[in-house]
Amino acid sequence: MKIFIDSADIAEIREAAEMGVIDGVTTNPSLVAKTGRSLDAVIAEICEVVDGPISAEVLATDTEGILREGRKLAAMHENIVVKVPLIADGIKAVKVFAGEGIKTNVTLCFSAPQGLLAAKAGATYISPFLGRMDDVGSEGLDLIGQLVNIYGNYAFETEVLAASIRHPMHLVHCAEMGADVATIPHKVILQLLKHPLTDIGLARFLEDAKKIPE
Ligand code: G3P
Repeated sequence: MKIFIDSADIAEIREAAEMGVIDGVTTNPSLVAKTGRSLDAVIAEICEVVDGPISAEVLATDTEGILREGRKLAAMHENIVVKVPLIADGIKAVKVFAGEGIKTNVTLCFSAPQGLLAAKAGATYISPFLGRMDDVGSEGLDLIGQLVNIYGNYAFETEVLAASIRHPMHLVHCAEMGADVATIPHKVILQLLKHPLTDIGLARFLEDAKKIPE
């Protein structure tokens, strides 16, 4: 399973990358806005820190605009994945990008039929938003299972990239279901490591070690 960090904050990305377990990065306009920097500056710096797929989202919502912005982003670095919203114009653009060899991450997926069409168009990744489904009383994990199953039935190459992950058990369930990738906020990456028995056990070992003769 691949683990991406869902962040546009360079300090967070650098710290996570230093752990050696980060395969890529996803960003979105909300995350980039929080940095107070331009999209180009943020993406260029992320490309220097992480050598893996880096999703950068277009803002256009018409096919021509998506193609224009996406081609510009893709030209910035070979690791760029163009993040495209799951709307009709976006799906048309994904088909064109696929023909041009430009990788895409189709975002804001909330249903299996949406995910099926994204795969038909040739998306590299599909991003179902788990947490946001849970927020409105749907079961986000069910969608992960459906997409893994549907893509497997027909050997679609599109990878299921579980997004909007809010806590460690989301990741565990995604892994059990066979999601190809999970993109995780920095805070949750740190939570993955935490267990009170690890801290208590380590403190006890270090205390006992003081009694070991030289
Ligand atoms: O990057 C897309 C997704 O991960 C957003 O997560 O927590 O804002 O729903 P969240």
